[in-house]
Amino acid sequence: MSNDTTLVLGATGNTGRRIAARLRLRGTRVRAASRSSRTPFDWFRPDGWDQVLRGVTTAYVVPPPVPGPAHEFVARAAAAGVRRLVLLSGRGADDWGDSAFGLDMRSAEDAVRGSALEWTVLRSSNFDQNFDGPPFRAPLAAGELALPAGAVPEPFIDLEDVADVAATVLSEPGRHAGRIYELTGPRALTWAEAVELISRAAGLPILYRRVSPAEYTATLVGEGWNEEEARHLAEMFVLLEGGVATRPTDGVATVLGRAPRSFEDFVVRAAAAGAWSR
Ligand SMILES: NC(=O)c1ccc[n+]([C@@H]2O[C@H](COP(=O)([O-])OP(=O)(O)OC[C@H]3O[C@@H](n4cnc5c(N)ncnc54)[C@H](OP(=O)(O)O)[C@@H]3O)[C@@H](O)[C@H]2O)c1
Repeated sequence: MSNDTTLVLGATGNTGRRIAARLRLRGTRVRAASRSSRTPFDWFRPDGWDQVLRGVTTAYVVPPPVPGPAHEFVARAAAAGVRRLVLLSGRGADDWGDSAFGLDMRSAEDAVRGSALEWTVLRSSNFDQNFDGPPFRAPLAAGELALPAGAVPEPFIDLEDVADVAATVLSEPGRHAGRIYELTGPRALTWAEAVELISRAAGLPILYRRVSPAEYTATLVGEGWNEEEARHLAEMFVLLEGGVATRPTDGVATVLGRAPRSFEDFVVRAAAAGAWSR
C-alpha cells in the first residue's frame, strides 16, 4: 500500500461507498468522509475541512447541494497539498441554464476546472439504481410510477459502472487530466419502457403514468418531502424533457475498455433480490 491517501466525499452515498470499497481492494489508503462518517465532513462547516484534507493526495468530490462551497474547498485542498480532484457531475451540466441543478453543478465544475490541480469531471446520466432505491422503489412496489416524463429517452447508467470508472480514474494519475467524461448506459429508454422491463422481470403488474410537474411536486410533498427538494426533482424532469441528455455516449468504454452494463442486467439483479416485491 502506498502512503498516498484518497479522500472520498459522500462516502455513505450511492457512489462514495462503492468507490471506497473498490479503492480499498486495490490497496489504496482511503479516507471516507461525510456528515455521518467516522471522518466527519460537512459542506456547511468549513472549519473542519483542513483536518479532513490533511495528508490527502487525491479526492473524489460529490458536489455540495448549493452553489458556492466547492470553490473554498478546492482552495483549501490545494493549500493542503492535494494534487488531483475527481468530481461527480450530471449529464448536460452545460445545458441546464439557471435551474437549481444547473447552478449547483456548474458551480462545482467551475471550482474544479478552474483550479491548478489535476482534475477530471464525471458527468453521469440518471442511475439505474434510482429504481430500486429512493425515490422510485416504493411507488414501483405499490404498482405505479407516476412521473413528469414523456417520450424523451434517458440512457440510464448502472452505478457499478459509475463506480468502476471513478475508481479507475482515481487510480491512474496523469491519464485522465483535464478530461470530462460523459457517462451513460449502452442505450436510451423512455421511463415508461424502463417500468415495462421492471414489471416483466418482477412478474408484477406495474404501470407508468405521466403527470404534470405540479402534480408530481404535490405528490412528493404529500409524502413528506420538503417543498424545495420536491420542486428541484420535478424541475429535473422538465429539463430532461428538453432532450439535453438523451444520447448514449462512449465514456464508460473510453475509461474501462468495455461496454457499460445494460439496464436489463440491473433489472434482473434487482428483481432477483426482491427489490419490487410487495
Ligand atoms: N441520482 C442520480 O441519478 C444522479 C445522476 C447523476 C448525478 N447525480 C448527482 O450525484 C450527487 C449525489 O451523489 P450520490 O448519489 O453518490 O450520493 P447520495 O446517495 O445522494 O448521498 C449523498 C452523500 O452526500 C453526503 N452528504 C449529504 N449532505 C452533505 C453535507 N451537507 N456535507 C457533506 N456531505 C453530505 C451524504 O452523507 P451524510 O448524510 O453522512 O453526510 C451521502 O454520503 C448529486 O450531486 C446528484 O446531482 C445523481
